[in-house]
Amino acid sequence: MFKPRSPDSEDIPTNDSANEHFQTVVQRAWSRRGFLKRGAGLSAALFLAGPLAACGHRSKAQSENVGTLLGFEAIPTSTSDAVSIARGYTATVFAPWGTPLFAETGDWKTDASDDAAAQAKQVGDNHDGIHFFALEGSSEEGLLVINHEYTTVGDKGYTWLFGADGTEPWSAAKVAKAMNAHGVSVMHVVRKGGKWEMNKTSPYNRRITASTEMMLTGPAAGHMLLKTRADVSGTRVLGTFNNCGNGWTPWNTYLACEENFNNYFGTLSGTDTRNTAQKRYGLSAGATEYRWEDYAERFDYAREPNESHRFGWIVEIDPFDPTAVPRKRTALGRIKHENAACTLAADQRVVVYMGDDQADEYIYKFVSESAYRADGYNPDLLDAGKLYVARFDDGDTTGDFMGKGEWLLLDKEANPILKADNRFASQAEVLIHTRLAADALGATKMDRPEWISTHPDNGEVYVTLTNNSGRQQTNAANPRQANLYGQIIRWRETGGDAAALSFEWDLFVLAGNPLKYADRKNPKSGSENITTENMFNSPDGLAFDKDGRLWIQTDGKYSNSGEYEGQGNNQMLCADPVSKEIRRFLVGPKECEVTGITFTPDSRTMFINIQHPGEEGDSHWPDGGSAIPRSATLIITKDDGGVIGT
Ligand code: FEO
Ligand code: CA
Ligand code: CA
Repeated sequence: MFKPRSPDSEDIPTNDSANEHFQTVVQRAWSRRGFLKRGAGLSAALFLAGPLAACGHRSKAQSENVGTLLGFEAIPTSTSDAVSIARGYTATVFAPWGTPLFAETGDWKTDASDDAAAQAKQVGDNHDGIHFFALEGSSEEGLLVINHEYTTVGDKGYTWLFGADGTEPWSAAKVAKAMNAHGVSVMHVVRKGGKWEMNKTSPYNRRITASTEMMLTGPAAGHMLLKTRADVSGTRVLGTFNNCGNGWTPWNTYLACEENFNNYFGTLSGTDTRNTAQKRYGLSAGATEYRWEDYAERFDYAREPNESHRFGWIVEIDPFDPTAVPRKRTALGRIKHENAACTLAADQRVVVYMGDDQADEYIYKFVSESAYRADGYNPDLLDAGKLYVARFDDGDTTGDFMGKGEWLLLDKEANPILKADNRFASQAEVLIHTRLAADALGATKMDRPEWISTHPDNGEVYVTLTNNSGRQQTNAANPRQANLYGQIIRWRETGGDAAALSFEWDLFVLAGNPLKYADRKNPKSGSENITTENMFNSPDGLAFDKDGRLWIQTDGKYSNSGEYEGQGNNQMLCADPVSKEIRRFLVGPKECEVTGITFTPDSRTMFINIQHPGEEGDSHWPDGGSAIPRSATLIITKDDGGVIGT
């Protein structure tokens, strides 16, 4: 996370008219379709009678056992400094921060005294997005690629990155170590005798950091706003950072998404030279908390005004070629990217769904110009295409969803609104200042769009809207003022085609706290599929498995008190998209978030990440005793060798 915290607005009053609007929205959702009960075959059939029924089909598990997609027993919440998991499953810690990636690299020093050079050869900090790339289709061997979102260098009296050394005196060496703890790890992993290990002599192992050379490609590459003194071409950039969620393409590349890049750009000049766009993207008025600008002047916008424009992109990485230069794909727009969910349109063009994670920001999709070729070479498919932003409307639908929506084209020439807007001289500027262009089109301001995932069979798209405590003006898809708990919404594209220009949308779940708010008419109690047994706040990570189970991970408040009473630590749950039932599968250790999700092809190993345990100073996970807490991957297996979630 490491986002500037919004003021705690738990006590923002919810006014009556907003409450009424909320009730109308929710009651309509319930009455139009109601909540399907487990085993309710007829209701399930009705659900499938929607527009997608003709082009989608249920997965095997669904058709054999309607309503029994969730095969495990739900677990209670927890506040302990340990991982709890459903009975019959095992979670094993793997590759915590500092784990050496190469045979010649020494072991991680348990007092965190390793220097920048060592960190460049070790697993980075704050694991987030993750993907398993099978080697030749194997479920026993592959490349595990992980984002390292940020470093826990806080202002709260704890500093895990430098151990007892702390942040003072601050130094160039500490900046270098912090930069090397960011980025991406590529690890060759093998399962031997039932146990996963890293092959530390593999040529695939690689660290990408905030200093790794990469290219800017696509329509904005080379634009004036991307040129710096160090790169007069506007096409060569050093590093990627704040890589939050991720994506992967059908041609087996990894997408690392640059999220809160703004937090790394400030100025020591004493003069706030930010322009309107830089303010809109949230660059700091003065010094940053990361303090990279103290020793690396490209992070001081008064010295290098264009450097920040070179971040906020989606970075395509080829994990199978350790020498390949990562490419920042400007055609996909510059926002605070959460993840990138790739799918194919009816005509095989590539569609990428993306959220911009900040309060009142938007949801986007990219549609490539050329079609994906399953048997061909697809090196630069993400360099040309159309970018759209979503508008969610209220009103009647043809099917059983709650409202309609439209995809608004972010194109300087083809969209008359942008054509007439002289703030954007070219399409490159629309892409560099995507947020401003989306404002101009009247897109819908969402409750912090996090991960997006598409259903493996019917193509429905789900997104987590994590929370928005500052929301006052509501709309149908974001129906609560001062939204503390978040919601998941979904949509189906017209004709079931991911490239369609319109869609119908629906609320899947409104998180809430029915323990504290027993009156189910209170918006804070959540939707009907939230109970005192499965409640959570702030859904963030989200992914479908092959059978269509929807896995939900949280990055929320873990106080277990007040508005969050009874919700415990951050957790992972699993939902059946048809019955809407949600069960808790796993709870993380203290002060962590649960994020990132991927599976082996046989769905019998799941990899997720535990990020920032002890971010407030109260955890020793995973090593225990008095150890420094470390972000790590969890490898989840079923004790009988079965498919995860059954
Ligand atoms: Fe890095 Fe939006 O979470
Ligand atoms: Ca996230
Ligand atoms: Ca988050």
